[in-house]
Amino acid sequence: MTNYNYFEILLPNKFLLITTMPFSHLKPKVKTILSNNHETAEQRLKGVCELLQTNVGHYDWVGFYFTNEVEKTLHLKAFAGEPTDQTVIPFGKGLCGQVAVSNQNFVVPDVKAQDNYIACSITVKAEIVIPLFKDGKNIGQIDIDSNTADPFSEEDEHFLEWVNEEASKILYI
Ligand code: SME
Repeated sequence: MTNYNYFEILLPNKFLLITTMPFSHLKPKVKTILSNNHETAEQRLKGVCELLQTNVGHYDWVGFYFTNEVEKTLHLKAFAGEPTDQTVIPFGKGLCGQVAVSNQNFVVPDVKAQDNYIACSITVKAEIVIPLFKDGKNIGQIDIDSNTADPFSEEDEHFLEWVNEEASKILYI
């Protein structure tokens, strides 16, 4: 327990304890989930979403979208957190749709400052979208919503790039 970071927030009527497991501890757990051959790729990706959403304090919603190149749309395949209506997103629309086109990481410290943004929940303050490549091709992305303002660092980017590399090894699209 001593290795974990604790953020304690005292509110008028309730006490919240938000814990974050270090990324170095999460990596072997991600590998274990992804290597479970008894589950489908989609089930394993859901397991990764649940692991991250449960163990990283500033990850409130975690999902994987994958591209349909013919329709030029993104499709939600696995997620953890509140269900969303945004299960199909056209290329170019919102932060996710922009990443489908740009092939670049998109780190948004304040979603209110974005014109081309699709809101999933009024509680979301920040978002990070990292493209997922298979054989050099952008086939999808991991998308994370945070209810904390400006919570993402380069450490998050590097960790999520690593998660996507590992996930791409079990995907055959
Ligand atoms: N906010 C995203 C839509 C997906 S939800 O965050 C789950 C966007 O602007 O593309």
